[in-house]
Amino acid sequence: MATVTRAHPNIALIKYWGKAPGEGNIPATPSLSITLDALTTTTEVTDAEADIFELDGRPVADRKVTECLANLRRHHPVPPLHIRSRNNFPTAAGLASSASGFAALVTAIDAHCNLNLTAQVRSDYARQGSGSAARSIFGGFVALRGPNWQAEPLATPADWPLKVVIAIAAAEAKAVSSSEGMKRSAATSPYYPAWVASTGQDFEAAISLVASQDFAGLAELAEFSCLKMHGLMLSSRPGLIYWNPTTVACMHRVRQLRSNGLPVFFTIDAGPQLKAICLPEAAREVAAALADVDGVHKVLVSGVGDGAALVAKEAGND
Ligand code: PMV
Repeated sequence: MATVTRAHPNIALIKYWGKAPGEGNIPATPSLSITLDALTTTTEVTDAEADIFELDGRPVADRKVTECLANLRRHHPVPPLHIRSRNNFPTAAGLASSASGFAALVTAIDAHCNLNLTAQVRSDYARQGSGSAARSIFGGFVALRGPNWQAEPLATPADWPLKVVIAIAAAEAKAVSSSEGMKRSAATSPYYPAWVASTGQDFEAAISLVASQDFAGLAELAEFSCLKMHGLMLSSRPGLIYWNPTTVACMHRVRQLRSNGLPVFFTIDAGPQLKAICLPEAAREVAAALADVDGVHKVLVSGVGDGAALVAKEAGND
């Protein structure tokens, strides 16, 4: 019997960077994201003699996947599984493949094993695999905050159908994983306490801006949150530099477009890719401008996507 699910990555407009002390992979700060429809992880689960995990056609030993299975098995009957996960975009390059990966995985196991988990509980399990994965359980605009750290949807894709133009500035995997980078920032950056203390205020402000669909306000605040997080990364020892020259050139290009009146702003995660968020009518012009920046390999245009979902559940041979 095969069960197939699909999930999309999300990008944070209010970032999280750093974990709260203790168990459960709890973020140190709240965050707010949008789910992307053009990038997809598809995960197929079948019964097996022993656990096997394949990513993009190759068997891999992934500690976080093993821990995710162990967490589920602590509370639910989950037999040995053959898991095949595929991304239609570069893995581990700052495009949040772990977010869509864990959201698709937990959703697939839930459906395959008839666990009947609520979306909130799936979000909890997904978060334990990767903090941002909690948000990919849901579509549209999504918040992740305490005290329970299960994501919650704020607005649907149809409520505010923004576009996201992704400029691929490098296709290779990132140098320092986000988990490693977060530990380094918490342990070494003199800015870390200020980051943790100030993010809640940004998050609250962003909730109101999303509710009122204030694009200009959200543009200013999201760029602030992104650059504040990268300031924290840069102030770690040794400094975490996730940008390359193309990333920086894209940031300037987006600022230039905005000063020319185009409704667009940027955000960047733990990798060199730049994501430009814009109103739908600006997407074509933003995509053309970013494709024209030296060093941009490729430009992808995405809409706001849905949450993790079951695609098929079939009886049959493995
Ligand atoms: O999901 P994680 O734990 O790998 O962390 C992702 C962190 C950022 O993408 C940089 C920010 C965010 O809130 O998604």
